[in-house]
Amino acid sequence: MKKAGFLIISFLLIGSLSKAQMVKSISSMPSDKPIPVKEVVGKPEPIIWDVFQKRRSVRKFRNDSIPKSDIVKIIDAARMAPTSGNQQPWKFLVIRDRMVINKMMEACVASAMVRYNPATASQTKEQYAEKLRKTYSDGYFSAPVFIVVLTDNNSLYADYNHWDGPLAAGYLLLAARALGYGTVFITDAIPESVTTEVLQIPERYTRVCITPLGVPVEWPVTPEKKRLEEFIVIDKF
Ligand SMILES: Cc1cc2nc3c(=O)[nH]c(=O)nc-3n(C[C@H](O)[C@H](O)[C@H](O)COP(=O)(O)O)c2cc1C
Repeated sequence: MKKAGFLIISFLLIGSLSKAQMVKSISSMPSDKPIPVKEVVGKPEPIIWDVFQKRRSVRKFRNDSIPKSDIVKIIDAARMAPTSGNQQPWKFLVIRDRMVINKMMEACVASAMVRYNPATASQTKEQYAEKLRKTYSDGYFSAPVFIVVLTDNNSLYADYNHWDGPLAAGYLLLAARALGYGTVFITDAIPESVTTEVLQIPERYTRVCITPLGVPVEWPVTPEKKRLEEFIVIDKF
């Protein structure tokens, strides 16, 4: 009902615009001019086609820094994702400060220490913590940048944020790959409690994911994927 309501309102709003206003609002969009349909139907854009195939979850990075303009470009692509009623409920929290990244890493180590059991452990607590620290610092935390994708609980149609959030994250991962950067959609590996505390994320935001962003040490091979036919149902189940 709620969705039907906002769709009707969206149509009414669009309907109430004059043609001139409509042209203006479309042409003021970042994507510029309308694209003639005949030129694109059925023709894959070669770059994006490669990007779909080549995006991989990356968990080890070179420490090359990333120009701010690239980060902005990636977020600019992410914000083009579709949203319910065009509500665009996101925030993209960018972390470049090494001290903050290290703080997140230490909080991950502390959080993972709950798995340490002195009764069964073959290492001391300190050794276990050091091993964790090395795994994290050689892995996710080798990245020079992190982006936290968030949705605003106070957005117009907050019930739809659980669709809108991951869509933007998906765009972000692809946009990063298009520029040659690796990412990984992280949930549990960097617990939400860590980002909430260390990054002081206000309560009104819900974390969709956090991703490191950086130049991969290498592009991982494609993990086993199901066969294409397993996904497709045509006309009837
Ligand atoms: C909802 C979701 C949660 C994920 N959580 C994690 C995570 O916590 N840590 C991690 O390293 N990768 C995580 N991943 C990445 C997946 O492991 C990865 O996408 C999958 O293995 C396929 O590999 P590919 O992305 O290279 O195709 C997550 C992905 C999704 C979509």
